[in-house]
Amino acid sequence: MASIARAHPNIALVKYWGKADDDLIIPVAGSMSMTLDKFATTTTVELTTGLDSFELNGTLADAKATQRTTVFLDLVRRLAADAGLETATASANVTSVNEGPTAAGMASSASGFAALAVAAADAYGLKLSTKDLSRLARRGSGSASRSLIDRFAVWHAGTSDETSFAEAIDAPEMAMVSVTVDAKAKKVSSREGMVATRDTSPYYQAWIDVTHKTLDEMIAACADDDFARVGQITETHAHRMHAVIQATEPPIRYLAPVSWQVFDEVAAMRDDGLEAYATADAGPNVVIICRPDDATAVAKRVAGFGAIETFAPGPGAHLLDAA
Ligand code: PMV
Repeated sequence: MASIARAHPNIALVKYWGKADDDLIIPVAGSMSMTLDKFATTTTVELTTGLDSFELNGTLADAKATQRTTVFLDLVRRLAADAGLETATASANVTSVNEGPTAAGMASSASGFAALAVAAADAYGLKLSTKDLSRLARRGSGSASRSLIDRFAVWHAGTSDETSFAEAIDAPEMAMVSVTVDAKAKKVSSREGMVATRDTSPYYQAWIDVTHKTLDEMIAACADDDFARVGQITETHAHRMHAVIQATEPPIRYLAPVSWQVFDEVAAMRDDGLEAYATADAGPNVVIICRPDDATAVAKRVAGFGAIETFAPGPGAHLLDAA
């Protein structure tokens, strides 16, 4: 019988950029995000014999993606072996359907590994808590740890596999408006970009230090239900992330000229009294946060820059009933 799980991407308001442990994917600092209500990944895991297989959007995945899936399934098999389950030696057919743009800075790896963690844990017969599923998803892609969580999540950096996981946090009511200026896969993956930043950016330590402070400020702003402060922190932190990345050698630049135009338009909105703030992950697409009632007005202002989607806070990764 197959296990099916559905997970949504998340967009960080306080960004994760840099690992303290590459193998365990322990980040250098914590982060905070909103889980989206669209662009889901639905993943089916069916145990089998022979080799693992991975099909994405109806096509067999390339060797690199298949290898990453097998490495992840090995973690699940190890947990199954530790739990004394017979499934520990089984291989798996993994089938994923991704409703959003893949690898263009719209967090497809987060929804992908969150869905895979939930479906694979179930298929192998593991009974894991949300915290343990978050820890497992983290091993696939750091940001996936946050997609386990409904609405808003804080990923505690931690210092070990046990202490690095995401959990829910209350945040002010908000919507997100994404501007997809380019739906193509990015040239430098987050994984490669993070290593290059750590190895060559002279601002890396400053980035780590400020991110710790920023997360504390964000948690305080959320506790105060202070939307404006949450927005200001988000936009400043996005600029800081792109600054530390741009200072790599050779330089990596994820934002395109049109991305900057969107940031400018968001600043112009604020001048006009429309309260909106912008952020961008490791790609050229920009995500705007605003109050839910302003989402339509915000979307109208940026419609000329790319494909627009509006998001509300969405559900954490969860199992679907098997067909
Ligand atoms: O989880 P990864 O390896 O795809 O890295 C995500 C990095 C950013 O999206 C740029 C920031 C974040 O916190 O999601």
